[in-house]
Amino acid sequence: MHAGLDFGTSNNALSIREADGSVRLLPLEGDSPLLPSAIHTAERELVPLLVLDYLEGATRETYAEARRSDIARARRVLLEEDLVGEQLLSFGSEAFETYMANPGEGYFIKSPKSFLGVTGLATAQLNLFEDLCTLLLGEIRRRGEAAFGDKITSLTVGRPINFLGRSGDRSNQQALAIIRGAAAKIGWQKIDFRLEPAAAGYHYARSLSEPQRVLVADIGGGTSDFSLLELSPDGRSRALAHQGARTGGNDFDIALSIKKIMPAFGMEERNKRGLPLPANLFWQAMSVNDVPAQRDFYSPDTGRDINQLMLDMPASSRFEKFHSIWHQKRSFELVRLAERAKIQLSETDQTTIDVPALNEPLAADRQDLRQASERLLSKIKTLQQDVLANQPTPDAIYTTGGSAQSDMFRDTLGEWLPGVPIIGGHHMDGVASGLALPEL
Ligand SMILES: Nc1ncnc2c1ncn2[C@@H]1O[C@H](COP(=O)(O)OP(=O)(O)OP(=O)(O)O)[C@@H](O)[C@H]1O
Ligand SMILES: [Mg+2]
Repeated sequence: MHAGLDFGTSNNALSIREADGSVRLLPLEGDSPLLPSAIHTAERELVPLLVLDYLEGATRETYAEARRSDIARARRVLLEEDLVGEQLLSFGSEAFETYMANPGEGYFIKSPKSFLGVTGLATAQLNLFEDLCTLLLGEIRRRGEAAFGDKITSLTVGRPINFLGRSGDRSNQQALAIIRGAAAKIGWQKIDFRLEPAAAGYHYARSLSEPQRVLVADIGGGTSDFSLLELSPDGRSRALAHQGARTGGNDFDIALSIKKIMPAFGMEERNKRGLPLPANLFWQAMSVNDVPAQRDFYSPDTGRDINQLMLDMPASSRFEKFHSIWHQKRSFELVRLAERAKIQLSETDQTTIDVPALNEPLAADRQDLRQASERLLSKIKTLQQDVLANQPTPDAIYTTGGSAQSDMFRDTLGEWLPGVPIIGGHHMDGVASGLALPEL
């Protein structure tokens, strides 16, 4: 059976096409078709051993041989840390819960997709990213096939126009190679890729009764992608232009955490000599989608710098609590809290952010979110202008992706393209559904 996989920065979804041509999403977490992109393991060193469990036959042997010393170390860690018989691995919501209950313990990774385009890494780091990708794909395959009741033999995987990474097409090629490599390891040899917004467009086309020129805006967790498509109800389509930026929902979360949470940890304070604390330190702490920034933040040098800076702060400073972020690896937790607040603010005008390390909840309102989002929205606007440059005005805008659900985004889109109707729908499953459809 052929399937479509939306391998998302925030969520994964797997779809199949039934004999009658309709598309069905397979449940990946309980009854839900969405598996959040998060992995938790008891220790990072265990990862190669956990990967082995998803491999079979010759692939397993080749991997075991290539990673012999890593696997031996994992076995040692298992014994030394007395982990035999413990639950070593969890995915999705369970991974989030395990991490949030105890951020300082274990190894937690959210959004592995956002790391795949980071170039200039050492082999060990690249191996780790491919391993994490293998674990996630392996688990998706297991769950999807269990729900489907048969093997999935080939796959169309969604891809953003540009993966996160700073090396342009090199980042894209690396990310695709990692996904392909991980998929091949778990036995998915036959895979091809399709642009995510185009896939969502094909799915939307099925609801049309006459041809339409549509601007698809897919605003996800990691990227924003636009495709201008000529769509026809019979499924035939023609792409006129695509543009994608490495800006998505995660960036809104980080921006809100900087605006509302970091001040409660001392950002904007001055030391006894009247000098400001370095803003970069707070950005590094919250940039959970930026591998080099997080590596620098969690280095021993930064721990020492924080201690040093603390010595210079007045007694009343809130910076004292900042050290616990570094010490207990709380970055993901704080950004996750900001994400929850962001989602609540798409329904209510005001909310609170309850940060465990602080004595009082922090208040946040729509204005805060709007201000924090201004720079990101203008980046997305530039993208939308680029895709429509020298192109005819679309008949409609079709929005998909979790971040496109917010009023703030829809209102802003309406301001950018006045008079063009905005059609929202299938925000969480439009891409996956389109990936299972044939390209005509
Ligand atoms: N009501 C909401 N308002 C604003 N943002 C939301 C809302 N609901 C979900 N989101 C955001 O949507 C994003 C996830 O969307 P989605 O599942 O489409 O991403 P993805 O497909 O995994 O990511 P990508 O396509 O970038 O790889 C998250 O950043 C989440 O915070
Ligand atoms: Mg997406």
